[in-house]
Amino acid sequence: MTPRVGIHDLAFATAHQVLDLAVLAEHSGVDVGKYYVGIGQSEMSVPCADEDIVTMGAGAAAQILDRLRERDGTTDGIRTLLFATESGIDQSKSAGVFVHSLLGMGENCRVVELKQACYSATAALQFALGIVARDPREQVLVIAADIARYALDSSGEPTQGAAAVAFLVTADPALVEIEPVTGLHTDDIADFWRPNYLSTALVDGKYSLAAYLRSLEGAWDEYRARGGVGFEKIDRFCYHQPFTKMAVKAHDRLVAIAGADLDKAGRLAQIEASLRMNRRTGNSYTASIYVGLLSLLEHDEADLAGRRIGFFSYGSGSVSEFFTGVVQPGYRSLLRTEADARALADRTPIGYDRYRALHERVDATTGGDDRTPAETTGPFRFAGVSDHVRRYERTGR
Ligand code: COA
Repeated sequence: MTPRVGIHDLAFATAHQVLDLAVLAEHSGVDVGKYYVGIGQSEMSVPCADEDIVTMGAGAAAQILDRLRERDGTTDGIRTLLFATESGIDQSKSAGVFVHSLLGMGENCRVVELKQACYSATAALQFALGIVARDPREQVLVIAADIARYALDSSGEPTQGAAAVAFLVTADPALVEIEPVTGLHTDDIADFWRPNYLSTALVDGKYSLAAYLRSLEGAWDEYRARGGVGFEKIDRFCYHQPFTKMAVKAHDRLVAIAGADLDKAGRLAQIEASLRMNRRTGNSYTASIYVGLLSLLEHDEADLAGRRIGFFSYGSGSVSEFFTGVVQPGYRSLLRTEADARALADRTPIGYDRYRALHERVDATTGGDDRTPAETTGPFRFAGVSDHVRRYERTGR
């Protein structure tokens, strides 16, 4: 018999500075309502000079490993670490190997990086489920971390952001059991991409929104055709959130496709709690749907135990997947709600000039030796580059 498999633990980290979108609106001469209401974003996390996907990913994963060490006395049960990102720091070596080292994980471990725009964390989840289903003793650590960057003064600029999640995939999961039926959709399009010679993404904004919705329909249709449950059997929904209004638009579309009879308030009630954290971190690309899951579990006032969540994961280019999971009894005792609220509240507010200087600093990277200024208040930092090797260290915080 196939074991029950899914997400056993889920942790969050973000960058340690924040830009209120009112600051950007003032600079751009735009009514802030366009950002706060029109695209549904209030803030964006901005990485310090010594923060990147490794420091954020390690910050999220450390919380899972600490809990595992308390329970088992070791983290050696994790024999696979999958790092999902489209903000890669090296063309060859996985960002996960740096995290593996920073966290002192056992050497009997396979570590690999996955990429397909904002979809890759879901690929990692599905691959992890397969590994655990084949041998229920396996534990797989998935890390999803991204820094969303668009050109200064571009229309994508207010939808930047940064965050990471880490989750542990096991048999008999304590948080969310993932069900086996999925619906898939792939289409070779140029809606959003980042060529090797650019540090910022290119996006055809309106086209990407339409492509997302078309892909949702394709994935949902296949999900249903393969025996997936009807819309009415799904209690909450969790979408990829390049900006939170996208999830609202997507859910409206799914309700229409499924022919469900739900008014605006009813539709919003199924997704609202999943939007709260992304609204404040900004886009975290492949992490964003799982930031949404954490936000849903932490902020939905209803007891979600036994309730089914529908997930729609979309990565431009494009690949998408619709699948479902069932929240497990006792899930609330595993959440780190206060710590996650602090991670958002304790970010240092920055002004426009500081934001712009940091944005331009990334583009100025030369490949020479460089000692990164110590800025982050987080537990890990990117210390700089010497002999073309990236150096990371613990900060002691
Ligand atoms: N108050 C309230 N709402 C306002 C407003 C105001 N003062 N001014 C504008 N708006 C609304 C608009 O009506 C629109 O809402 P709608 O989409 O429901 O019609 C929304 O704000 C955005 O305005 P728009 O003129 O379309 O903005 P834009 O041309 O600057 O583009 C995006 C917005 C989202 C397309 C752009 O930010 C972008 O390209 N972002 C990246 C997209 C992305 O991540 N794609 C990948 C998908 S996975």
